[in-house]
Amino acid sequence: FLHKLVLGIETSCDDTAAAVVDETGNVLGEAIHSQTEVHLKTGGIIPPVAQQLHRENIQRIVQEALSASKVSPSELSAIATTIKPGLALSLGVGLSFSLQLVDQLKKPFIPIHHMEAHALTIRLTNKVEFPFLVLLISGGHCLLALVRGVSDFLLLGKSLDIAPGDMLDKVARRLSLIKHPECSTMSGGKAIEHLAKQGNKLHFDFKPPMQRARNCDFSFSGLHHVIDKMIMQKEKEEGVEKGQILSSAADIAAAVQHTIACHIAKRTHRAILFCKQRDLLCQSNAVLVVSGGVASNLYIRKALEIVTDATQCTLLCPPPRLCTDNGIMIAWNGVERLRAGLGILHSTEGIRYEPK
Ligand code: KG4
Ligand code: ZN
Repeated sequence: FLHKLVLGIETSCDDTAAAVVDETGNVLGEAIHSQTEVHLKTGGIIPPVAQQLHRENIQRIVQEALSASKVSPSELSAIATTIKPGLALSLGVGLSFSLQLVDQLKKPFIPIHHMEAHALTIRLTNKVEFPFLVLLISGGHCLLALVRGVSDFLLLGKSLDIAPGDMLDKVARRLSLIKHPECSTMSGGKAIEHLAKQGNKLHFDFKPPMQRARNCDFSFSGLHHVIDKMIMQKEKEEGVEKGQILSSAADIAAAVQHTIACHIAKRTHRAILFCKQRDLLCQSNAVLVVSGGVASNLYIRKALEIVTDATQCTLLCPPPRLCTDNGIMIAWNGVERLRAGLGILHSTEGIRYEPK
């Protein structure tokens, strides 16, 4: 083989994923097992349950990715695996599986930072040079960073409490959208986006958080509590019991979506201005990459487009399947690190196996 080949393994949260990617960004094989359905039923991720599901699926998923790629394990140049951040119990499954494979195949090991992988994904699909700005918004992540190199990040802002997807999931759960005939199989964020189209955002007036804060941080839990209280009040007004769907649910969804879109857009605007004023980004052709599950929300994307248009930036999003957790981004991060000669381990000594 002329090209270097990397196997990527991801188990940081609730997806068991693997992929084989070559040096030029060709995805040769991939496989993913999502636990979403199970966690939707329990109303959130229970770490030991996630761990058990990773254990049940990891061998098969890695095997599927390898088989689809038609690459024999001996041809791999390295194995790259997410080691942080994430749920410790979930990460442990991927790490211990990978370390066994590394020892067995005698291949270099590349530990991957999950956020770095999300941020670099865009370079697999688009020709994007450093530096660029990245906004990661999902159920577990909320950060703004300047990406100056493969492992050179300047963190500009983060959520001081929960992530936007987490908040949307909580609101959707509180509104019992899982019982709504049109939304029963959707994630909380997707259900809110769907319902918002039928609602009037002007019927509720939620204040965007942190309007006076002179930084690029985010906050969603204050807003979440305000919305929770509002829902309780509406239930009283409409004479609806907790667990039933409010007639104003669509209006609430529209207002919630609008408020968090404003908040996210404003913080991102500050980050762009901060970088441009200090010449940290190209003046005429800066790039903003938006990724994570919440980035698939078209209303939020529209709000971000207004910001990028006003600041002469280009807005780029990876395709939806690469916005959420996947094995391809981990393998690609391995390729990036291999090419840059960064963080490649030739021995698993000192790396701990999953505690039994
Ligand atoms: O990236 P992801 O699959 O997993 C992590 O959280 O890492 O993102 C899932 C999150 C969930 O909170 C989900 O409610 C949210 O992304 N989400 C959305 C949409 N689709 C998924 N939020 C807003 N609008 C959507 N269309
Ligand atoms: Zn993620």
